[in-house]
This record gives sequence, C-alpha cells and structure tokens, in this order.
Amino acid sequence: MILGIESSCDDCAVAILDLDGKVRADLIYSQIEPHAEFGGVVPELASRLHLTKISELCAAAFAEAKVKPAEIKAVAVTNRPGLIGSLLVGVQFAKGFAQGVGAKIIGVHHIEGHLLAGLGEAEFPEPPFVGLIVSGGHTALYLVNEKFEISLLGQTRDDAAGEAFDKIGRLLGLEYPAGKEVDRLAQSGDDTKYEFPRAFRSRDSLEYSFSGLKTAAKLMIEKAPVELPDFCASLQREIAQTLLAKARLALERVGTNKLVIGGGVAANSRLRFEAEKLQGDGFEIYLPQKKHCTDNAVMIAKAGWRKFVLGEFDGIDMPVKSS
Ligand code: KG4
Ligand code: ZN
Repeated sequence: MILGIESSCDDCAVAILDLDGKVRADLIYSQIEPHAEFGGVVPELASRLHLTKISELCAAAFAEAKVKPAEIKAVAVTNRPGLIGSLLVGVQFAKGFAQGVGAKIIGVHHIEGHLLAGLGEAEFPEPPFVGLIVSGGHTALYLVNEKFEISLLGQTRDDAAGEAFDKIGRLLGLEYPAGKEVDRLAQSGDDTKYEFPRAFRSRDSLEYSFSGLKTAAKLMIEKAPVELPDFCASLQREIAQTLLAKARLALERVGTNKLVIGGGVAANSRLRFEAEKLQGDGFEIYLPQKKHCTDNAVMIAKAGWRKFVLGEFDGIDMPVKSS
C-alpha cells in the first residue's frame, strides 16, 4: 500500500492506493471556507490548519481503507512547489509516519501529480504525450517522454488561468476561488456577448499570458454593469480556446497526438467541451475525473506508485522547495 499526502496549498488531502493502483481511500479537508473571507489563501493560516487536520484525516483514511499503518510500504508526499509552511507540515508528517512504520519516503513534484492524475486508469496513455496543466498557480505545457521525463515546453508569462478566473471573478463579486462559480453562471450565458483581446504573444510561441485579459475585463466591469452569465460564458470561451490553441500547437510541434490535461481548471466545462472538439480533429485527449482535476492526494500517491516500482526513493533528509 502507498500513502499519498498533499498539503502544498490550501487543501489537506490523504489517499491510500494499493499496488494494483486501486484507490482505497481518497479524503480531502478543504480550506476554502476559512480563507474565503480574505479573498485568497493566507499562507500562515493554511499551514496551521494543515497541522490541526492531518493526523485525523490520515486516521480516517486508514479506517475507510480498512488498512493498518504497518501495511504501508511507501509514503508519497508533495515536497515541491508550494507554500513553504504548508509543504513542511505534509513532509514532516510523512517522514515521521514513514520512520514509525519502516516505510520508504517518496517526494513528489505537485505538477507531476497533476500530470499523472489519470495513471492506472484504463484510458491513460503511454508516453510520449503533451501535458497541459492549468491550475490556480500554474499554466504550462509539458512534454512527457518515453522515460516519463518531464520537460517544460512553455508556460504563462504572468497570471495562471485559474488565477485569471479567480481575480476576474473577484471583480465580479464572486467568492474565492471563483472558477467553479464562473463555470456555473456561464451555463445560462451567451458566449458571444463579450469580446476579449486574445493574448497570444506571438502566434508560434508556446507561452501564455492572461494579464491583458484581466485588465480588459477590469475595464469592462468598471465601465458599465455586465450581464453576469453572458460575461462568464464569454470569459471561459476565451480562456478555454486560448489554452487549447496553444496545446494544439505544442502537439503539432512535438509530433504526438496525445494530450493529457490536468489541474483545477481542467474541471471547467467549456475547456472539456473544447477538448472534445480537438478529439474530433483526430487528437487523443485524456482528462482526469473532475474530482481529481483539483488538488488531491490520489494523484500524489499515483506519482509515488510509479517511482516505487522504479525504486526511486528519497531519504529522511529530503528537502521542501517552494518554487
Ligand atoms: O489544481 P488546483 O486545485 O490548485 C492549484 O494547484 O492551484 O486549482 C485550483 C484552481 C482555482 O483557480 C479555481 O478557480 C480553478 O482551479 N477551478 C476552476 C474550476 N474549478 C476549479 N476554474 C474554472 N472552471 C472550473 N470549473
Ligand atoms: Zn494543483
């Protein structure tokens, strides 16, 4: 059994995976509510909440999985990148636990977790493939080669896509994190009512940029009251189409037709719709289940599982890295 722990930002998550890749427990303590009144994640508050929750969450995972701590052969934990205090709580807990039961420690890069969220499920592709990770902190295209080595193809120069949803949502008076609510409001909106500038930098670049979109949205909102559903529908059309246009460029450049999408924004219904259209053009698109798009510990346990099979372990001195 592998224990997965994710505490890099505001979600405290624990999962237990057996060596056949079956999920035995998948628990999340969401900190959305305690941070909501501040309009974003307060790092010090996040680490303190992780500290108060992680033990009981872990105990609950063992009860749900009907597994004893001594059955755990490895503890996979996010050790980079993220909020330093939050990472420390998960990593120190993992080290203590591993030490206590004689398990191996495996440090996982948060993005690798997002890329492997669908690993072990029937529809997950063999590499090479292109990965598009779109979350609150990251918007980037990666190449995952035959050896599962991950290299960056291009990323955002400024805001992440999720950050754009959250910041523009805030201007619209929506609660943090606003992505899901924008998505909900967009369902009854007309996506052609508002036009945003497309931030493409140069057409053949694999970089994203969302700060111009944010400024344009701000000016529109300040100028006159906007029709919320139409505005949200137009906004998410723009973001989804931009994300996938660059992903398509990356696929063509790399010469593969397999695209894996992950991160919180991969739960967006318009992004999923545009991904289906790409599928219609002959590309193979792989999307995790919606609940495994946003931060979770199953994805960390899966990335750890892959390393476990390869014998790639870390020591008790494994560091945490914020960036
Ligand atoms: O991957 P994630 O849980 O955390 C990070 O690693 O950042 O992503 C959270 C982000 C937030 O910005 C949130 O607004 C966005 O994902 N998000 C969505 C949707 N659900 C979550 N954005 C657009 N549409 C959604 N349905
Ligand atoms: Zn994430």
